[in-house]
Amino acid sequence: MRMVDLIAKKRDGHILSAAEIQFIINEYTNGTIPDYQMSAFAMAVFFRDMNDQERADLTMAMVHSGDTIDLSAIAGIKVDKHSTGGVGDTTTLVLGPLVASLGVPVAKMSGRGLGHTGGTIDKLEAVPGFHVEIENEEFTRLVNANKIAIIGQSGNLTPADKQLYALRDVTATVNSIPLIASSIMSKKIAAGADAIVLDVKTGAGAFMKTAEEARALAEAMVRIGNTVGRKTMAVISDMSQPLGFAIGNALEVQEAIDTLRGQGPKDLEELCLTLGSQMVYLAGKAPSIEEARANLQEAIQNGSALETLKVFLAAQGGDASVVDDPSKLPQAKYVFDLEAQQDGHVVEIVADEIGTAAMLLGAGRATKESVIDLAVGLMLRKKVGDSVKKGEPLVTVYANSEHVEEVKRKLYESIRISKEAVVSPVLVYDIVGE
Ligand code: URA
Ligand code: CA
Repeated sequence: MRMVDLIAKKRDGHILSAAEIQFIINEYTNGTIPDYQMSAFAMAVFFRDMNDQERADLTMAMVHSGDTIDLSAIAGIKVDKHSTGGVGDTTTLVLGPLVASLGVPVAKMSGRGLGHTGGTIDKLEAVPGFHVEIENEEFTRLVNANKIAIIGQSGNLTPADKQLYALRDVTATVNSIPLIASSIMSKKIAAGADAIVLDVKTGAGAFMKTAEEARALAEAMVRIGNTVGRKTMAVISDMSQPLGFAIGNALEVQEAIDTLRGQGPKDLEELCLTLGSQMVYLAGKAPSIEEARANLQEAIQNGSALETLKVFLAAQGGDASVVDDPSKLPQAKYVFDLEAQQDGHVVEIVADEIGTAAMLLGAGRATKESVIDLAVGLMLRKKVGDSVKKGEPLVTVYANSEHVEEVKRKLYESIRISKEAVVSPVLVYDIVGE
C-alpha cells in the first residue's frame, strides 16, 4: 500500500477499507507517513467526508494506536460522560458523585483546562489535599468500594489522535465532522468506557457554533458508538452563556456542592439531571430514563449524593470538611461587584469571552505551562433574560490582584444590556440516540 494512492482515492471520493485506514493510522503514528502526506489526507477527508463504516474504522484504528485502559476488574457497566467543552461547565463535579450514589461505577479519567475552558482535575485540586496521582490498582479498588474515583490522563492513550489533532490545528482541518467525531470517540473508548453519554455544546462558547452543526456532530458520534458496540447517547446543550453562575476552580467546587445539596443554579441542575439520567439508564440501574431521573432527584433530596462526594474526596486525600465549611476552599484576596451601567435586560453573556476574562484573572491557562490560581474567578449575578437596574451587580469578581482593568473591560464588553427584553435561551436542544 502506498499513502499517495490512498490520498488520491479519498480525494476522488472513494471509500477506504478498514485495512487501508489502519495502514494510514499505524504508519502515521510510527512516523513512516510524514506530516505533509497526512495533511493532504486530512484535507481530502474534510472535502469528501467519510461514511459511517470509515468513521468507525478510523476511530478504532486510533484507539489501537496506543494503550487502552482495561476496566474489566471494575464491576458493572462503566458509563463515561464527555463534554465537548464549555465555560463554567461544572457538570462532571456534580454528576460523578450523583450517579455513583445510585451505584453507577464512575471510573473517570479527566483533563486539565486550557484556554477559555476549565478542566475537572484543576477544579478538584481546589479541595485541599485532593490528588489524582493514584496507581491503577488503587483506582480499581476505589471504584469498586465507593463507585467513584478520578485519575489524570495517562501517557500513551491514542497517540494517533494527539499527532493528528496537532496537525489539523495548523492545516485548517479541525472543523470536519468525521475527524472531530473519531477524535473524541477514540479517546473515550481507549479510556475503557462500555457506554458513553455525550454533552455536545452549541453557541459562542462552544466548538460548534450552531445547533445544526452540534446535531450533526452528536449524530455522528452516536453512530460511531453504536457501530463499535458502545451504547452512546448525546445531549445537545446551550453554551452561548456560561453554565451556572460560577467560573473558576474553587468557585465551581462550591457550586457543585450547592447543586448536590439541591441549592445550585437551575440550569446546571437541569443539565446534570438530563445527562445523569442517561448515564444511570445506560448503566442498567433504572428501567427508564424517567425513573432514573426521579432516583437522581431523590439522591439529592436524601443527602446520599452529597455523602458520596465526601467519601470520594476523602478517599483521594481531600479534606471532605470543605463540603460543610466552604471557607476552607482557597479564598481570593479581593472580591468586588461589577455594576450595571444602565437599566435594561441582559441579552447576551458571551461565554468564550467570559472564559477568557476568568483566564486573565488566573483561573485558567493561557499556555500548557501556565500556573493557575485556584481561588480566583467570576460569579455571574445575572443570566440572559434577566432584567437589571443601573447599579445592580452583574458579576462578582474574585481576584488576587488589584490591577484587573483589562478583565473589567472584557466583562463589560461581553455582558450586553439592552432596552429590549429577550427570553432566556433553551438549555437542552435535543437528545440523540436510543
Ligand atoms: N475535541 C477533540 O477532542 N477532538 C477534536 O477533533 C475536536 C475537539
Ligand atoms: Ca458553573
